[in-house]
Amino acid sequence: MTLSIPRLIGHRGAARHAPENTLSGMRTGALQGALWVEVDVKITRDGVPILMHDDKVDRTTNGHGLVADMDFTQVRALDAGSWFGPDFRGERVPTLAEAIEAARFLDINLNLEIKPCPGREEQTAGIALSMALNLWPADRPPPLVSSFSTEALAMARTVAPHWPRGYLMEEEPADWAAIADRLDAATINIDARRQSAGSIAAFRATGRPVLAYTVNDAQQARQLFQWGVAGVFTDTPEGLFKGLTGK
Ligand code: G3P
Ligand code: CA
Repeated sequence: MTLSIPRLIGHRGAARHAPENTLSGMRTGALQGALWVEVDVKITRDGVPILMHDDKVDRTTNGHGLVADMDFTQVRALDAGSWFGPDFRGERVPTLAEAIEAARFLDINLNLEIKPCPGREEQTAGIALSMALNLWPADRPPPLVSSFSTEALAMARTVAPHWPRGYLMEEEPADWAAIADRLDAATINIDARRQSAGSIAAFRATGRPVLAYTVNDAQQARQLFQWGVAGVFTDTPEGLFKGLTGK
């Protein structure tokens, strides 16, 4: 399967312009021209896949506590927009099902980053991807499934073997290439700040496209593209486009 990777991928939607991991964020990313939007996927205590980056709801909602200790109805009651700005008051934490439906309406693809609460790596990937597989429109290209958790990626391989997987790394372990092989990763997703021409060449030598996070500066993006990076995750798709093209 050939993976068509856009140069600019909306990060957590378009995190500079709308509250991250919300439907408004996805819509903003799409309106800014992002063909793919990256979102973070967790499950609630009662096993409902939702969009949320942190283990706690505190930073991105008006609530407190661990997602792993909350049922979906509790998470759903929270305001996930006011922290960002008054225009987003009343925004709710979306389910993964709603995000998939929104992507279809917006005509964009998704990068589903499986972001498990500690100890729930396999469970999160198993539940979220089983559900996503059932809901994913048959006429659309599959999402890219990524994770920092190799356990989650191994489960993704079991549950959705034909969906491409992105091996997401913070600090690359010495055996990263062997792990990428073992997981049958389609892409290598790396921290842009840590890279050089040499590191990108090494990743690309495995035959995999490289995606870099999080890039909001045009000069940095230009450098990464020159080194051969296929796409970058950005909080500001329109701003980065303007910076890169002058338009
Ligand atoms: O998937 C790329 C990037 O989103 C990974 O880092 O912390 O923003 O989820 P983070
Ligand atoms: Ca993410």
